[in-house]
Order: sequence, then structure tokens, then C-alpha cells
Amino acid sequence: MTKAMVIIGAGECGGRAALVLRDLGFEGPVTLVGDEPHLPYERPPLSKEAMTGEAPAIKAIASDEILAERSIRHIHSVQAVAIDRAAHVVRLSDGSALPYDKLLLATGSLPRKLPMPGLGARCVYLRTFNDAKAIHAHLRAGNRVAIVGGGFIGLELAASARKLGADVTVVEAQPRILMRGVPAEIAEIIHKQHEAEGVTILAGQGISAIADEGAEVRITLAGGLEVVADLAIIGIGAVPVTALAAEAGLAIDNGIAVDAELRTCDPDIFAAGDCCSFPLAVYGGRRVRLEAWRNAQEQGALAARNMLGAGEAHAAVPWFWSDQYGLTLQIAGLSDEGHSVVRRDLEDGAFILFHLAGDGRLVAASGIGPGNAVARDIRLAEMLIAKRAKPAPEALGSQTVKLKSLLAA
Ligand code: APR
Repeated sequence: MTKAMVIIGAGECGGRAALVLRDLGFEGPVTLVGDEPHLPYERPPLSKEAMTGEAPAIKAIASDEILAERSIRHIHSVQAVAIDRAAHVVRLSDGSALPYDKLLLATGSLPRKLPMPGLGARCVYLRTFNDAKAIHAHLRAGNRVAIVGGGFIGLELAASARKLGADVTVVEAQPRILMRGVPAEIAEIIHKQHEAEGVTILAGQGISAIADEGAEVRITLAGGLEVVADLAIIGIGAVPVTALAAEAGLAIDNGIAVDAELRTCDPDIFAAGDCCSFPLAVYGGRRVRLEAWRNAQEQGALAARNMLGAGEAHAAVPWFWSDQYGLTLQIAGLSDEGHSVVRRDLEDGAFILFHLAGDGRLVAASGIGPGNAVARDIRLAEMLIAKRAKPAPEALGSQTVKLKSLLAA
């Protein structure tokens, strides 16, 4: 009997899963459901290239032609509103119902809302292409942009807004920018670059009030300072989209809880990407939720293989990158697993920090530098982390010892 595969969420993860089902030769029906009106598209450019061009353009993961050629049915502008697990049916907001044999939840994450009154039409978030278009319309010389949150979204948008000539102020509640997962030494380089480009960064400043009335938005900081802007962009983190899964009785634990094969507590329902938490093998099964483009792509592909019965466990090392001005930050692994740090200097001011566990195991590497200066060594570090290698700290720190030679050791 032909099985039916249904994927909820038509982003990087869901889109990738649909394509991989076909790559693997699956011939039954594949349906991809998404609530956005667009083709599945890449989100990373929304804060970067798409934001600095004349007008934001969609970078589609698959064109209409490819979807048609591969018989992938894409239902757009429609939400899945309920999962009837007993009947193996997903109910959609247009009143229709989709039967499934295997279901993948790739529902992603949404911007965390700033929990205070006073926000209005000049306070916006970035998640979708439509959000990007709305923000882009405000980024021009002379316009004042306040950014709440000195994380990845906030800082990438700050760089893009400066490129278009806007006046930019970043407000960060923590004592420094990029507290989540980025070492202080690297955050400092990024901080200085933003200041050199003319961005004002106010770190260690909580917000006590926002007044979004009339022609401007006024943000009052706990210390008394006031930031006045034409637009406030809020980038204070993301929350996994779990309501559909929770209402269907699936286990939730900082995201939809899945096992190493990305299966939920229902054997016919999988979850992958930003929306799920899973055991990370490389750190002894520590349960994590990753919000990252590559993870969404890898897990979409892994879920597709396992929906077809591969029984394959997740084994990848987390990897993340951010581009701001000419600088690229890359992180392999989770640096909070480390106890000590070894620095390796590369050319052009680039450097990598290697994070070692108490037993000497390499658990993460964080690099910063112009263009792709750190890319090759971060890739090698990722392979060392995957191998659970214990390279000698002196070798990691030495510019004359090639990382490749450590991999062979
Ligand atoms: N006021 C000011 N800053 C705040 C507040 C607040 N009330 N609450 C949180 N912050 C700060 C955090 O301290 C953190 O530095 O906002 C920042 C949020 O940064 P991230 O956690 O990196 O989240 P964000 O930048 O929104 O990115 C969301 O998109 O690009 C992806 O992978 C990226 O997963 C990330 C997601």
C-alpha cells in the first residue's frame, strides 16, 4: 500500500524533507503545508543580503517547477489546526483534512514577544519575508532605528541598517552583546566593529517603558536614558512553535520532544528543526534545541530518511554562523560544554577559540575573522569534535601545527 507523507511547516526543514523523500525514491503522495504565502525559502538572508539590496527578494529552496516535477504538493497560506492521531488525519484552517501515514512537524520558531505594554505599529519583529519587506521600507539615511536585543538578529539588522544609512541604537539587557553562546573575546570584536561603523550599543540596559504613539517610538531604559526612534525592531530570542503538537498530546520539553531518530512519542509523528528538542549524541545525549539553518536542513533530511524507515540516529555537530559587515563568526559545537579555552591566531586578525572539556576533549570552536578566514579551520574543528578527539592544547594553539594533522592523529 502506498503511504502518504505530510509535512507541516514549509521552511528550510520542511522543504528539505519533502525534497529528500523524493531523492530517496519515495513515490507516494508528499504534501507540504505552510501558512506563509510563498514558496519555501531561506531565512538567513532576511537580516543580511535581502535587507541591504534595493528590495528584498525571496531565495526559494525549491521553485514551482521543481515542486511540480517532483510531485510535491505545496499547500500555502493555510495552517494545520489539529492532528487527529487516532484517525491519522491533519485538519487544516481551510476546513480540509489530510490523511497521513507518517507526519513531520517542522513548525519552526517565532520571535519572542517583548512582554510589556506600549508596543504599537512602529515596534516590529523579523521572522518572515513579509516582515523583512516591512522593515526594509524604513531603512534609509536619516531614519532612526532602535534595535532591542543584541543577539544575532539584532546585530545583523544593525549592520544592514547602517549600510543603508540609518541611525542605529542597539539596546541589550545583558551586560554585553551575544551572551548566548558567543565567548566574550569574540563578542568584543563584533561590538567594536559596530561602534566603528557608527552604531550606538547600550548594553546592560533593561527597558522600563515603551511609548509607541504618533510619529515616533520612545524607549525608556531602566537607568533613565531615553531612545527615540522611527522604528523599533525587537530581536530578543525565539520560541519553538509547539501548540499543535501539545494539543495532540505529544510530549513537549523545550520544544517538541523527539528521540535520536527525531520521532515524537507517537511512532508515526516526527519533528525536526527549530521546533524540537533532541538528544545530542556528541555530548552524551544532552537534550538541546537548536535554532540554526544547518540544523534545520540536516534534521529535515534525517527525518525524511527515518520516515522511510532508515532508523538512523542524529550524529551531527551543531554549527552556526553570522555575517556582520565584513566579519564572519562561525561556531562549531556548544561552547558551554567547555572548561578551558585555547586561542589560535590566523591571518588577517582572524582567530579561533577552542573550548576543551575537563578531560581534554575538544567540545567547541568559535572563530571570527574577515570573509571566510575561519571557515576551513572551523570545519576541521567540527570533525575533531565529532571524533571526540583530545588534541594537545599546545598543538591547537600553535600556528605552525596544521589542524588537519591532528585529525589524522
Ligand atoms: N531587552 C533587551 N535585550 C533583551 C531583552 C530585553 N527585554 N530580552 C532579551 N534580550 C537580549 C538577549 O540578552 C540576547 O542578547 O536579546 C538577545 C537575543 O538574542 P538571540 O537569543 O540570539 O535571539 P535573536 O537575535 O532574536 O535570534 C533569534 O534567529 O538567526 C536566528 O539563530 C538565530 O536563533 C536565533 C534566532
